[in-house]
Amino acid sequence: MTVPASRQGVPRIVARPDTRPMREEVLRGLESEPKTLPPKLFYDETGAHLFEQICELPEYYLTRAELEILRARSGEIAELAGPRVALLEYGSGAGVKIRLLLNALETPAAYVPIDISREQLGRVSRELHAEYPGVAIRPLNADYTLPLAVPPLPEGSRRVAFFPGSTIGNFHPMEAAIFLGRVRRAVGKGGALILGVDRRKNATTLNAAYDDSAGVTAAFNLNILARLNRDLHAHFDLRTFEHRAFFNSRASRVEMHLVSTVEQIVMVGGEPIHFDKGETIWTESSYKYDRARLEELIETAGFRLRELWTNRKRQFWVAYLEAV
Ligand code: AVI
Repeated sequence: MTVPASRQGVPRIVARPDTRPMREEVLRGLESEPKTLPPKLFYDETGAHLFEQICELPEYYLTRAELEILRARSGEIAELAGPRVALLEYGSGAGVKIRLLLNALETPAAYVPIDISREQLGRVSRELHAEYPGVAIRPLNADYTLPLAVPPLPEGSRRVAFFPGSTIGNFHPMEAAIFLGRVRRAVGKGGALILGVDRRKNATTLNAAYDDSAGVTAAFNLNILARLNRDLHAHFDLRTFEHRAFFNSRASRVEMHLVSTVEQIVMVGGEPIHFDKGETIWTESSYKYDRARLEELIETAGFRLRELWTNRKRQFWVAYLEAV
């Protein structure tokens, strides 16, 4: 085969994401005491797929409980929100829950899905644009934990944020208050927030939800090491790490760790990281709220609790909060 003269000697340009910030963040975590990794690293393509499987697990009640509340209360939510709402969804994902709201709301004006995954954001936006031609779809490809520039929205629309899934539980309570304060500023005066929160409950239920019998959560946790092997040319031997998840009652959080089953040195981004036998990497916290803690968080962030709904088994809350 002959190569056209115009193409000869032209190097192929391959767009590679800059992994330097990730390397720095990962090394900072692995060189600290205790060792940590940021949970946002779970969500590469494999991780996102595993998370979808987690949501279907019999032990992982959170998604089903929240959907039950949203189905039962979407009419009340629509009444509180009123007409011409601009919905801002933080971490829009597959766009399942938002359809329940868009179907219930009176003439919704706009939908702003905010997500770090460009592919999923594009796909969901196109689907919703086709399904809801009267709604202005304004996707925002961003890390929503950082300050955001909300795109221009239709005149006269009222901003209502949506943060489902109890992802708020993955923030340390102080960071949760800072984050919700930012959401409060994004919706502005007269705005609101629909927030999904997992309730504090017995350790047996929580331990099972984060250490399921099919081993899906274990695969989800271990996948973070596979990702580091791929993206940072790390040398983790996944057979020498084990998933551990437990409810820390004093701190009211489920902790997920990866335990090194042997003493070893692992090269990560060109740096040697030493592990004692039994030493762990803390990969995630999932805080569980009781009513007092939740009210404290809401107040600190500058919201007022208007409604608090739970499911029949009283496992989960959906809160309707108004900006003060
Ligand atoms: C995304 N987040 C709310 C989930 C949780 O329950 O904390 C992530 C998760 N980790 C293990 N299972 C699910």
